[in-house]
Amino acid sequence: MISFDHVTKRFDDGTVGVADLSLDVPEGQVVVLVGPSGCGKTTTMRMVNRMIEPTEGTITVDGRDVMATDPAELRRRIGYVIQQIGLFPHRTIAENIATVPGLIGWDRARTAERVRELIDTVGLPEGVADRYPHQLSGGQRQRVGVARALAADPPIMLMDEPFGAVDPIVRTRLQDEFLRLQAAVRKTIVFVTHDIDEAIRMGDRIAIFREGGHLEQFDTPTAILAEPANDFVTDFLGAERGLKRLALIPVSDVKADPGPLVRPGDPRDRVQQVAATEGTDWVVVVDADGRLCGWAYVDELGEQVEATGARPFSLRVFADDSLRKALDSMVTSRTGVAVRVSGDDRYEGMLTQDILTREIV
Ligand SMILES: Nc1ncnc2c1ncn2[C@@H]1O[C@H](COP(=O)(O)OP(=O)(O)OP(=O)(O)O)[C@@H](O)[C@H]1O
Ligand SMILES: [Mg+2]
Repeated sequence: MISFDHVTKRFDDGTVGVADLSLDVPEGQVVVLVGPSGCGKTTTMRMVNRMIEPTEGTITVDGRDVMATDPAELRRRIGYVIQQIGLFPHRTIAENIATVPGLIGWDRARTAERVRELIDTVGLPEGVADRYPHQLSGGQRQRVGVARALAADPPIMLMDEPFGAVDPIVRTRLQDEFLRLQAAVRKTIVFVTHDIDEAIRMGDRIAIFREGGHLEQFDTPTAILAEPANDFVTDFLGAERGLKRLALIPVSDVKADPGPLVRPGDPRDRVQQVAATEGTDWVVVVDADGRLCGWAYVDELGEQVEATGARPFSLRVFADDSLRKALDSMVTSRTGVAVRVSGDDRYEGMLTQDILTREIV
């Protein structure tokens, strides 16, 4: 959808903002540009809608060279959330959101309907439409910025640190909302941040830049975490690379183990045999319908297994939880495993540290 081919931007004073960049942004994906301050993220983004023009190389949007496209036409198809939000202070929230529809001549009724819809989409309270930006919280203003960029329903969005100005809790909530919204609207998005954790969370692909406008690595978050291209990338990824990777892999991606499984009514000698085979001093109790009853020490059981005697697992994981959550469950439970259950509490097996290690090493 957006393609950079050997693009360099040299400013008038000789500063190289972006150096020989080649990069493709596939349709419907979120590509995150990340890197330290001054590494060329905003410059890269602004070349897409010709707010900055490349010195060398070619940028195409939907197959057309941007330098051969009318800038006004280009910008109609590209929503832009600028760094620092940039709402018009003397216009109401509704007027701010209606900026682009106004420019392209939508009628009042259509615009008003769209504004109402977007206020709802980005999760703002209904009453904000007639307020001014200074009457909103920082997080609410950021949502207005996103709503404004979405107003004319552009297929492409450029978002420059859209959640930069809010506290970590609001930021996480905005990220969640963004991901939910993107799953529904599937825009092609270039998203800038200097926060690697935000990049890992939001990006289908991540482009890591370093000072001087050099692209160091461009790949999926999991691939970058698994194999950083060089020391710069490794440093930039920061500590706990293994944990960050586990956070991206769903429980459903790995094969769970049946574990030391017994049923109510099983006699003591069978329980002992199961535990011995599995190398545990406990067993997991699952009833005839496949529902998880809990776990029990082998030594505590009487002549046979009773469903009621089992201790509950305090944490359990579902198919769409992350392996990081499974690990958390392992390190906080006496059994040292994470039990996987379905939505209706049917036992689906257990995950062990061996299984995680196999997955990430
Ligand atoms: N108009 C300009 N003239 C000269 N140099 C510029 C100009 N605009 C940007 N630069 C320089 O180009 C480099 C890249 O700037 P850019 O704004 O793309 O960085 P960034 O990665 O977005 O940084 P930040 O995270 O701080 O927003 C910087 O060294 C900056 O000083
Ligand atoms: Mg910037």
